[in-house]
Amino acid sequence: MSNENELETLRQQVATRTFIDDALTALFAPEDEALRAAREAPSEHNMPSIEISPLQGRLLQVLALACGAKKILEIGALAGYSGIWLARSLPAGGRLISLEISTEHADVARAGLERAGVGDRSEVRVGPAEQLLPALLSEAPFDLVFIDADKPGYPTYLEWALKLTRPGSIIVADNCIRSGAPLRGDSSDAGTAAITTYDHRVADDSRLLSVAVPLDEGGMDGFAISVVRAVDGAGPL
Ligand code: DHB
Ligand code: MG
Repeated sequence: MSNENELETLRQQVATRTFIDDALTALFAPEDEALRAAREAPSEHNMPSIEISPLQGRLLQVLALACGAKKILEIGALAGYSGIWLARSLPAGGRLISLEISTEHADVARAGLERAGVGDRSEVRVGPAEQLLPALLSEAPFDLVFIDADKPGYPTYLEWALKLTRPGSIIVADNCIRSGAPLRGDSSDAGTAAITTYDHRVADDSRLLSVAVPLDEGGMDGFAISVVRAVDGAGPL
C-alpha cells in the first residue's frame, strides 16, 4: 500500500474514533449546564483542565449504582467535575466525601457541586489525603472509592481504599494507562513508577478482582476498576 493510502486509512480511523466518542457522549453522557460549567471552571481559575470525560463520569455512575453506593469517597476533587457525576448517582441520604489538597480548588469544587444541586450530599475536605484518610476509618465502609489525585500517592491511596471498603465495594483509579508507560514497567518518574505499582497490585491482589480499560485520550488512558472480593471467595476465576 502506498504511503498516501496508509495515511488516508489512518485519517479515516481517527475521524471514526472521534465520531464514535462524540456520538457515545451525546447518547449516554450529555452534560447539563452545571457539568459544562464545572468543565470550564479550571481554565477560569488557573487550574489544570484534567477532569475525566463525560463517558468516564457516566461509567462512575453505572459502577456506583451497580454496588448500591450510599457512601462515596473521592481522593482528588479538582474543580468538582467528577464529584458532580458521583454525587448525582447517590440515593436520598447518600454522601460524597471528596478530599482535596488545595483550598482554592476545594472552593471551586464546592461551588460547582452546589450549582449542580448536590451540595447537600457532598463535602469537600481540605488537606493532604494521607493526613485526612485515617479519620475516615470511623466513617467506613465506603461503597465506592475514586482515586484521581497526585500520582505518586496512588499505592498509598490503594492501601487506604482497602481499609475503608467492604466486600462488594468498588475502587476506581484514573490515569492507569498513560500511553502504556506503566505497562512497559516504566519508572522514569515517581508518578509513572507509582502507577506501574498500582496496576500490578490491583492485578495481583487476591482481595480484588480488577481490570483496566482504555477510555479517553483516544484510548491512551483510562480507569483501573477493582471490586473488593469476599474474604472467603478468593478462589481462582
Ligand atoms: C494529570 C492528572 C490527571 O488526573 C489526569 O487525569 C491527567 C493528567 C497530570 O497530573 O498530568
Ligand atoms: Mg485524572
